[in-house]
Amino acid sequence: MAKRAEITGIAHYVPDQVLSNFDLEKMVDTSDEWIRTRTGISERRILKEGATSDMAAKAVQALLANRGIGAEEIDVIIVATVTPDMFFPATACLVQDKVGAKHAWGFDLSAACSGLLFALVTGAQFIESGAYRKVVVVGADKMSSIVDYKDRNTCILFGDAAGAILLEPTDDMSVGMIDRVLHCDGSGRDALYMAGGGSLNPPTAETVAQGMHYLFQDGKAVFKVAVVGMADVSREIMDRNGLKGSDVDWLVPHQANLRIISACAERMDLDMSKVMVNIDRYGNTTAATIPLCLSEWWQQGKLKKGQTVVLSAFGAGFTWGSILLKWSLANPVAH
Ligand SMILES: CC(C)(COP(=O)(O)OP(=O)(O)OC[C@H]1O[C@@H](n2cnc3c(N)ncnc32)[C@H](O)[C@@H]1OP(=O)(O)O)[C@@H](O)C(=O)NCCC(=O)NCCS
Repeated sequence: MAKRAEITGIAHYVPDQVLSNFDLEKMVDTSDEWIRTRTGISERRILKEGATSDMAAKAVQALLANRGIGAEEIDVIIVATVTPDMFFPATACLVQDKVGAKHAWGFDLSAACSGLLFALVTGAQFIESGAYRKVVVVGADKMSSIVDYKDRNTCILFGDAAGAILLEPTDDMSVGMIDRVLHCDGSGRDALYMAGGGSLNPPTAETVAQGMHYLFQDGKAVFKVAVVGMADVSREIMDRNGLKGSDVDWLVPHQANLRIISACAERMDLDMSKVMVNIDRYGNTTAATIPLCLSEWWQQGKLKKGQTVVLSAFGAGFTWGSILLKWSLANPVAH
């Protein structure tokens, strides 16, 4: 019998250290006012010690505690990240070891800011096929490790965080992951990338001197396609499921820029009161933004069982997509 993948646990981790717009004013030629009005960001978190797998492991441990299960029950771990601890071994292996998931296998998935959506859809396949029963999907990025804090175009945007989601099977076909639309278009490769370190430009003193180990973004070019891509895909998933704006309880958009988020909400006929926004406190945490929103809203009792939720993202590649969910995890505040 066909199974549906539903979210049965959610948690997140953010480092304690705050990097505010006022701190950035002392590092580059910028202002709190410019950053807030152009992006919606006031502050972001920075992981001083450790790597992406440390944040991911903390998020998974919190997830296991919320769900009340042991790490040995996990079957598969998928880590979406563009800042793996190393090229190899996979960050998923490091997380598997750090949390003690001794029966799990896993792998990393690279889709930048759409990574969590790509990983959720991938994880759901393992559940829907009946192959596995407990799949942990993590979105984690230590963006501070690839950001040039001398480049005002990019250093104001990004932060560090991790979020973790547990997928399990249900026979109830009215809940869980109902639909998905995913895309990629590699012709967008020149707008947002990290040139150095890979097989194209292996690291040398010269690649480092040229700053090729930092991310590069043509902000204006990405902005234009992100607005259209995220809005189109969100509208597409609503239209093909016969949903109007009033039928959607929450839009959970990737948090790259508040102006992109508002444009997307407008195209969906959604009031901003139905849009999860925490970019002001965390900036763009790449693969972590969506689970970070879901986890905070669920913990605060605002994301409730039975609600209709649209997740939408756009990122480097280009990659973009949308997932339609019927949320089935009971509200912790209601207990
Ligand atoms: C990066 C971004 C915030 C820049 O905003 P923008 O309104 O497009 O700003 P522009 O790049 O046009 O720059 C406008 C001016 O501000 C300047 N500027 C750029 N960064 C600045 C900063 N941190 N502080 C002050 N001024 C800055 C620019 O140099 C430019 O000056 P000029 O007109 O003299 O050349 C915006 O383009 C963006 O959010 N892009 C998409 C991000 C995204 O979605 N990422 C990807 C998915 S993960």
